Amino acid sequence: MTARELLDEAIKAREKSYSPYSNFQVGAALETKDGKIYHGCNIENAAYSPTNCAERTAFFRAIYEGERQFARIAIVGAPKGKSTDILTAPCGVCRQVMAEFCDAETFVIIMPDGKGGIVEMLLKDMLPYGFSPENLK
Ligand code: THU
Repeated sequence: MTARELLDEAIKAREKSYSPYSNFQVGAALETKDGKIYHGCNIENAAYSPTNCAERTAFFRAIYEGERQFARIAIVGAPKGKSTDILTAPCGVCRQVMAEFCDAETFVIIMPDGKGGIVEMLLKDMLPYGFSPENLK
């Protein structure tokens, strides 16, 4: 699957966004190393802090299904009704969840660049000097 196709999966996932408070709809498509795709959307809450980002929804769905080997994630976010060709980077909490389950040297984060193109970044560049299970060994 191309990076563009994985972004298209994230756009589909975004349709499920539950975001009545921010109206900022986010979708994520998480790809396992054997090519399975898990969708996630942001799920907000009237108490605000229980809100779950799209990226973590995708990870937690996949982890529950027994997946442990991840290759890439595509992320799109935009206010309701607006174009998803803007860069929405994962929040710090989601980067930390990625650090728990992904190899920072190889895991790729894919986002629109806001100019019709695509940005692809390695987790090690998105979360430099991160804390991961390796630090507990
Ligand atoms: N959000 C995500 O789902 N992922 C991100 O990478 C950034 C933020 C959500 C959380 C909240 O529902 C809304 O976007 C506004 O912050």
